[in-house]
Amino acid sequence: MDHLVVEGGVRLDGTVEARGAKNAVLPVLAASLLTDRPLVVPNAPRLADVDTMAGILRALGSRAERREDGAVEVCSDTIQSEAPWELVRKMRASFGVLGPLLARTGRAEVSLPGGCVFGVRPVDVHLKGFRALGARVEIEGGNVVAQAPPGGLIGGEVYLGTSFGSSVGATMNVMLAATLARGVTTIQCAACEPEVTDLADCLVAMGAKIRGQGSPTIEIEGVDELGGATHAVIPDRIEAGTFLIAGAITGGRVRVANCRPLHLGSLLDCFWRAGVPVERGRDWVEVRPPEGGLRPTDVTTQAYPGFPTDLQAQWMALMTLARGVSLVTERIYPDRYMHLAELLRLGARIRRQGTTAVVEGTPRLSGANLTASDLRASAALVLAGLVADAKTEVHRVYHIDRGYERIEERLQSLGARIRRVSDGSQ
Ligand code: EPU
Repeated sequence: MDHLVVEGGVRLDGTVEARGAKNAVLPVLAASLLTDRPLVVPNAPRLADVDTMAGILRALGSRAERREDGAVEVCSDTIQSEAPWELVRKMRASFGVLGPLLARTGRAEVSLPGGCVFGVRPVDVHLKGFRALGARVEIEGGNVVAQAPPGGLIGGEVYLGTSFGSSVGATMNVMLAATLARGVTTIQCAACEPEVTDLADCLVAMGAKIRGQGSPTIEIEGVDELGGATHAVIPDRIEAGTFLIAGAITGGRVRVANCRPLHLGSLLDCFWRAGVPVERGRDWVEVRPPEGGLRPTDVTTQAYPGFPTDLQAQWMALMTLARGVSLVTERIYPDRYMHLAELLRLGARIRRQGTTAVVEGTPRLSGANLTASDLRASAALVLAGLVADAKTEVHRVYHIDRGYERIEERLQSLGARIRRVSDGSQ
């Protein structure tokens, strides 16, 4: 297991490129199960989660490989319909193979994903969606077993809202299944996240008929078969946001190139409110040193285009240094606060009141040994380490490797003093 050693105090300066989005590439790879033709993702990021998805696809019978030019190519000419627990348990997004398997083979058996550090994370809405397409869905031996009616799935109408907003994963899973169903499927309260739109665009390139992606109502007209495609996924807005917050927390000047500023609207608004100057072009965003320090800035996480839950921990790290009190409220995963206790170890002043964290800014943080608990929490700890006095060690960095490609090298390129140390043990 590796850990990261960060020596704080350097103002970051430079340009870093956003990679392909993790949360777009995972469902796009799952979409390859819908066709016997090759699907190529030229800009698939080199992430542990992408390797896990490729492993699951191979276990299902697909050929999935990283080509010499860096693209990931998947060909699913013969597949089976059971996804094993050992692989599915590693990554929740692997549940996204259920929709395509069910549509293509008429049957799917996929291990029920467990909870995770930030809550229970049920899949009831996914299952409701499959039932709306005529599937029989049971839980047996810890697996979801879904069976399409004779003749295959049938288009239907389904509402995919939850008490915490629309479900991104369920919208994708049901959209994937509906592409090969007979007739028209209407998804109401569909998630509007750019990753959902990106998946729809990939499916359309494969021959699917989809309208309304990016809006709360998506209509899918089933087709008999889908073909292959080459689809570059959208740039990772969460990774881009993390680097921008890294710039802001160090009082530096960081430009993220190859990103979509439109996908970052809520974060850019927060920077503006916090007094962090932002410049942007067609495909880049740059943060500059705030004049007169950071202003305390409240955020509430919401479904897109609201402030993303996946940037909540990083924003909280930034607000630990603001000149006053900020409220950070989590509305998607009410228990996603694992980073809070670790930030306290750096001297941050934060207390939790229900689903809100009250963050009282302090002039300095002081380096410490920290343990990462999940992907975005780990990123927040690294950001705090960039500005803490002395040395911060972040342990269990395998969490960070799930979603950030070689984060230490890219932060080094901006001037950060950060290095990876291999513990040589498991
Ligand atoms: N929910 C239900 N029932 C369901 C599905 C979801 O109650 O059947 C609830 C969840 O418990 C949560 C809310 O609905 O409270 C939203 O969950 P959603 O289904 O939208 O989340 P997800 O699809 O499992 C994706 C991202 C997450 C991101 C969320 C929210 C992927 C692989 N994961 O998860 O990303 O936080 O959407 O935007 O796309 C991350 O990248 O670090 C990450 C956790």
